[in-house]
Amino acid sequence: MADQDIGKRRAAEAALEFLPQDEVIGVGTGSTVNFFIDCLGALRQRIKGAVASSVATAERLQAQGIDLVDLNDAGTLSVYIDGADEATAHRQLIKGGGGALTREKIIAAASRQFVCIADESKRVGRLGAFPLPVEVIPMARSYVAREIVALGGRPVYRHGFVTDNGNIILDVHGLDIVEPIKLEQTLNNIAGVVSNGLFAARGADVLLIGSATGVQRIA
Ligand code: A5P
Repeated sequence: MADQDIGKRRAAEAALEFLPQDEVIGVGTGSTVNFFIDCLGALRQRIKGAVASSVATAERLQAQGIDLVDLNDAGTLSVYIDGADEATAHRQLIKGGGGALTREKIIAAASRQFVCIADESKRVGRLGAFPLPVEVIPMARSYVAREIVALGGRPVYRHGFVTDNGNIILDVHGLDIVEPIKLEQTLNNIAGVVSNGLFAARGADVLLIGSATGVQRIA
């Protein structure tokens, strides 16, 4: 197994410590979370079920025999486990490489604790080298792109990709994100933007960074 996958798996295994007893949990999307779901199968009796952040995650949870729960029926979740594309020591994140950012943000907001799992390659000093995903209502694509250019970004339309919500993604390159909370809010204020992949105002509560040598916990 490649070092990066070992790091993902170690972070995923470390997140099992945060599993509540007899409660519904939130589960994110991506290759790191897939390691977590695969571990969760053996512990499925311990939880009541899971709220999935994407169709792909829902299918993988079901394959492990884990009951799916609608967020509207779940109330506040005690924990949400998800990966990231970039993570800082302040636990601020870029997410959405897999395009599930809006549902991820909703579930994170509806959870008391967000535990982010990532391999060492996701750690950055400053956010922005990874193109920032922005989910946009299809008819607003050109307008939103122009507004993002005015902010200094270079939006690239993710061709052939439709989110689980029926929207499109603009991946924004060239942003030097000095004030992540401010940029997160500014992007959210553009008409037609559904959400963006900055998890800064509400970052992770716990960050588990896995590597070939172990897991670093940042809380
Ligand atoms: C999904 O939309 C993303 O937010 C993922 O959480 C993020 O891209 C991390 O994915 P990997 O675990 O596959 O790197």
